[in-house]
Amino acid sequence: MSDRTMARQVLLFIWFLSLGSALGQVSYSIPEEMAKGSLVGNIAQDLGLDLKRLKSGKARIYTGDSAEYIELNKERGVLLIKERIDREALCGQTTPCALHFQIILENPIEFYHVTVEVSDINDNAPYFNKPDTYFEISESAVNGAKFDIEQAVDQDVGTNAIQSYMLSLSDNFSLKLHSQADGRKIVEMVLQKPLDREKQEDIALVLTAIDGGDPHLSGTTQIRIKVLDVNDNAPAFTHSVYKATVVENSPKGTVVIRVEASDADQSSNAEIIYSITNTHDGVPEMFEINRHNGELKIIGDIDYEKARHFQINVRASDRGGLTDSSKIIIDVIDVNDNKPVINIMSKSAMLSEDSKPDTVVTVINTQDVDSNENGKVQCFVNDNYPFVLKTTTINFFSLVTDGDLDRERESEYNISVTCSDEGVPSLSSSVTLSLQISDVNDNAPVFEKSSYEASVQENNTPGLSIFTVRARDADFNQNARVSYILEDSSVNGVPVSSLVSVSADSGVIHAVRSFDYEQIKDFQFRVKAQDGGSPPLSSNVSVKITIQDQNDNAPQVLYPVQSGANVVAEIVPRSADVGYLVTKVVAVDVDSGQNAWLSYKLHKATDRALFEVGLQNGEIRIVRQVTDKDAVKQRLTVVVEDNGQPSRSATVNVNVAVADSFPEVLTEFTDFTHDKEYNDNLTFYLVLALAVVSFLFIVSIIAILSVKCYRWRRERMFYKSGANLPVIPYYPPLYADVGGTGTLQHVYNYEVCRTTDSRKSDLKYARPCSESIISLDTSGTHTLTHAQRERLNFDDCDDQVRIMFITNLCAILKHFS
Ligand SMILES: *[C@@H]1O[C@H](CO)[C@@H](O)[C@H](O)[C@H]1NC(C)=O
Ligand SMILES: *[C@@H]1O[C@H](CO)[C@@H](O)[C@H](O)[C@H]1NC(C)=O
Repeated sequence: MSDRTMARQVLLFIWFLSLGSALGQVSYSIPEEMAKGSLVGNIAQDLGLDLKRLKSGKARIYTGDSAEYIELNKERGVLLIKERIDREALCGQTTPCALHFQIILENPIEFYHVTVEVSDINDNAPYFNKPDTYFEISESAVNGAKFDIEQAVDQDVGTNAIQSYMLSLSDNFSLKLHSQADGRKIVEMVLQKPLDREKQEDIALVLTAIDGGDPHLSGTTQIRIKVLDVNDNAPAFTHSVYKATVVENSPKGTVVIRVEASDADQSSNAEIIYSITNTHDGVPEMFEINRHNGELKIIGDIDYEKARHFQINVRASDRGGLTDSSKIIIDVIDVNDNKPVINIMSKSAMLSEDSKPDTVVTVINTQDVDSNENGKVQCFVNDNYPFVLKTTTINFFSLVTDGDLDRERESEYNISVTCSDEGVPSLSSSVTLSLQISDVNDNAPVFEKSSYEASVQENNTPGLSIFTVRARDADFNQNARVSYILEDSSVNGVPVSSLVSVSADSGVIHAVRSFDYEQIKDFQFRVKAQDGGSPPLSSNVSVKITIQDQNDNAPQVLYPVQSGANVVAEIVPRSADVGYLVTKVVAVDVDSGQNAWLSYKLHKATDRALFEVGLQNGEIRIVRQVTDKDAVKQRLTVVVEDNGQPSRSATVNVNVAVADSFPEVLTEFTDFTHDKEYNDNLTFYLVLALAVVSFLFIVSIIAILSVKCYRWRRERMFYKSGANLPVIPYYPPLYADVGGTGTLQHVYNYEVCRTTDSRKSDLKYARPCSESIISLDTSGTHTLTHAQRERLNFDDCDDQVRIMFITNLCAILKHFS
């Protein structure tokens, strides 16, 4: 404080002795808070006292009980600040504020009133009792809403007291100041713009109270506002459309996507519940959304083949009922979970073996419900088969032949068609097609041998099966049914069919007749085998049949000629030496080989010692010197025997005349005629024998007939029925060719009880009673074999009769032998 100001204040009030006891009164005005020793006023001057009086009067200040803020300096006669004066402490809010004291002098006692008015200085700043204020205001508070604020305090008074308030910058609030009747200012906070919790939840403001001092002093307080939430915000999805993919066949429970909605509100107002709003499109069966966290899970079987996309409408709702919706578009990713399906037009087919390459066997259709690579199908067939698959249109294949078929090589194919898709891993399936190859007559029959050779004994029975030719045909069924046909040709001028026949279906070659080696030794013909195809195929083979000789011909004597009565004799001179060749028996045998190998033996001789027959050559030689005693007429019987088994022989009588002259011979040989007699006798005996045989035979027949007749009558008497008349068997007369000249064939040609089936000739041979040769020496030219050429027809014959007949015949023949 400057001296000038102080002087002005000091001079405010000076009263002189206005009261009886009081000599004077002086007032001073000082600001508070002056420093110690500061001059308050020149009291001596103001009171008109000189300094000596002050000293002598022992001037002092009297304050009573009050504290002494001011002291008196007697030397200078001034009042000085003794203690700091705080107006506020001294007077509070009371104005004006003054110190009252007296200055007392002694000798004489005088006292003066002194008033020191203490004026306010702005030494106190406004302040708030609480450092901060806290409000909770709903964001729904309307404009104009008022909020009381605690008032600030300023110890100073007057203009130094609070003059104004100030609020830190805020959009929402303003201050309103009210002046009270006591001059104090009351401040309110007014909402001038709605709050939005979502924008600013906590608002911090600073309220400043400012006093009117110079300079201004101020105090502040914090105003903290919490904006309370109101459900004024709907949830909002983070995306309007969500996209996701899901692999088909994903297991249940797989999380596909998580949707999220946010709500700007708070706590329960921001609590979001998610839901799916689809109804009829199957989505609710497939997906489930977690109400709280928005996770979309699979609950059904995702099958790409059924649904490739899903659109899921989701809704987010808060507790206040506000909602938002969004959609999730889910693409299903295909998995190769379907095998290709093979449809084959027919599972079994038939194809002719002469089908050309590229013939369509069947058509195959494939389907794979998977898509893209997973649905692309490739098919193939067994690669060692003559078939290929050709793509016709998409998913259609034709199975065509890729080579020549041959039923004889492969009559059936099990074609396995395998189709696989191109997925990873690839799936495949296969189907087996059974293809039958039908036969075409493309193979001729083939004979088992390139040529056949067989032999047959001569004198075979007609119908004898000689051997069998066989041809095979690789074809099937009718095309392989081989028939055998005898090719027409002729053998020595006779058609071959009169020699042999071929059984058409068995290939058995039968002799048609009895062969005679002496007539034909072998012959060739061709047999054709023909199959039943259309047209038929055939092949032929040559067959050679060799006839084997049997010893069926006895040797035939060619020389010497045996001719009835004309007896020829060889003449041997009596002078003949030992070894003299009398003659040579010449014989031939029409058989061959061993059967024609002849040997000569002397059988009977008038004089056995004289002659010898060459075993091999039939030469009759003299073996000893002829003597005179030797008869002229020598008769030799030479047996010519072949080497067959059994052997056959012929005898020849050789007449030898041992004589030196022809007349001698003649006379001797006239009685050769008795030989004729002998022959006649023999003929007679034979005739007689036959007569006896015939007689016995007739007797037997009559006997049997009688027996039969007797039985028949008895049967008739039993049944009295004329229907079953027994058939009287017919027995042809015995025919025996005896005494025939020439070679009789050694044939037993019995056709006995032939059945009607000519193929199976059921020949029953009535065996001759003895196998031995019955040689009836007719002493001459006849060479009679035991063979009787008998043709007996035993049709419907009775065994009894037959046996009896044969027995009789045998007995007779035995007797003869
Ligand atoms: C074809 O299949 C059938 C039936 O499975 C079988 O009987 C036949 O032997 C097979 N054929 C071939 C040539 O494999
Ligand atoms: C027999 O077969 C041969 C080929 O092996 C053939 O040349 C001939 O013509 C055939 N003969 C007949 C009569 O069919």
